[in-house]
Amino acid sequence: MSGSTTNAGGSVTVTLDGTNKSMKLPLLPGTIGPEVADIRKLYSELGIFTYDPGYGGTAACESKITYIDGDVGVLLHRGYPIEQLAEHSTFLEVAHLLLNGELPTPAEKHDFEQGVMRHTMLHEQLRSFYNGFRRDAHPMAIMCGVVGALSAFYHDSLDINDPEVRRISAFRLIAKMPTIAAWAYKYAIGQPFIYPRNDLGYAENFLYMMNAVPAEEYHVNPVLARAMDLILILHADHEQNASTSTVRLAGSTGANPFACIAAGIASLWGPAHGGANEAVLKMLREIGHVDNIPGFLEKVKDKNSGVLLMGFGHRVYKNYDPRAKIMQHTCHAVLKELGIKDDPLLDLAAELERIALHDEYFISRKLYPNVDFYSGIILKAMGFPTSMFTVLFAVARTVGWFSQWKEMIEDPSQRIGRPRQVYTGPTQRDYVALDQR
Ligand code: SDX
Repeated sequence: MSGSTTNAGGSVTVTLDGTNKSMKLPLLPGTIGPEVADIRKLYSELGIFTYDPGYGGTAACESKITYIDGDVGVLLHRGYPIEQLAEHSTFLEVAHLLLNGELPTPAEKHDFEQGVMRHTMLHEQLRSFYNGFRRDAHPMAIMCGVVGALSAFYHDSLDINDPEVRRISAFRLIAKMPTIAAWAYKYAIGQPFIYPRNDLGYAENFLYMMNAVPAEEYHVNPVLARAMDLILILHADHEQNASTSTVRLAGSTGANPFACIAAGIASLWGPAHGGANEAVLKMLREIGHVDNIPGFLEKVKDKNSGVLLMGFGHRVYKNYDPRAKIMQHTCHAVLKELGIKDDPLLDLAAELERIALHDEYFISRKLYPNVDFYSGIILKAMGFPTSMFTVLFAVARTVGWFSQWKEMIEDPSQRIGRPRQVYTGPTQRDYVALDQR
């Protein structure tokens, strides 16, 4: 097969070598970013598929939500740079932006916040789900189970074709995730579940449910509430990452949003994706001291060791992940607020980053810190146990997952996701009776 682009006509011509068969693939222009060759008719016209394991060169959908320019390290939500949203916005405002396309007016902001905060409670029957888990269950396992179970509680929310049902489902999922997450934590440490307080802000209420106990009053530190809100903003969406693609694929079958988000949580859990924040802290503890960094990096560079520098590298960013920069600054602010002058893990992480960024292995592969590199250090300082780090990612990403799921459902060109394959197994053969094998 050979190809040539003719940008003027907005197409690329593909010719099957050795035949007189060729076809024009239309080029779909985005508002920004590279043009995308439309291969939908390739099989019907030329009888061939494309091969792209890991989807490194495949656009699986059209989207208006998030744009990343990985070469320069730019991240835009609905056109707004992440740095501006992090500085000026709130998580619920960003949630409105992702879901509805625009920053809310003051009246819309009020209604949206009320809409979310009125759905923070869980059905009382859902409490008993927690008792079915071992006390030492990983909270991500609890998240997968309890979020999936939500579909059993909202029979009225399962008509995905009704826009009003979708609106209420978004409120329910965004509102209930912090409650589900905080209860997973309380269950693990054997403390009573704390019910949500709708007079508090979204992040504030989450910290309240995590840290309060019924026996005494608890006031959330506003600096920490703001830091939590910021962390949620930074994790809210990231275009077609693995968990979002999982949500879209599950949703393409017509499955209800609660089931789809549960699938997204499962996908996020892996250490190559959202589980990396937990893995970073484990890695830093294992390295232990700056003196051990060179030895550790030698292991990373040895392909047979199976050791990776967790929190480094990204499929799309070949430059600094802009979220990692903001996270690093937030880290210092949080430690200062908590009166922590020197955090050995932060010092170790900074030195690890410095050495890696000057090392030929990482330079040549364009490996930079990603969002997960510093987030664990902040979360640890805020008192979160390591096992809750990925749970926090899931709480924040729920709005991104839902926005992407909603966009897909509302897209008239949406079809069930169904990739093809290069089959390399045996060709047809006849069954052999057991006594002849
Ligand atoms: C997230 O996609 C998203 O948007 C995800 C995310 C989001 O918000 O949704 O941004 C969140 O998942 C962040 C990533 C968290 N994961 C980690 O920190 C785990 C460590 N990183 C890697 O496993 C890896 O970099 C990935 C999974 C993030 C990206 O994998 P790719 O795109 O498939 O890259 P690759 O494995 O093909 O790597 C290219 C080269 C390879 O070397 P060579 O074979 O060319 O010699 O770089 C090497 C890799 O071995 N490499 C690393 C490395 N990451 C890549 N070597 C050492 N340490 C690493 N971390």
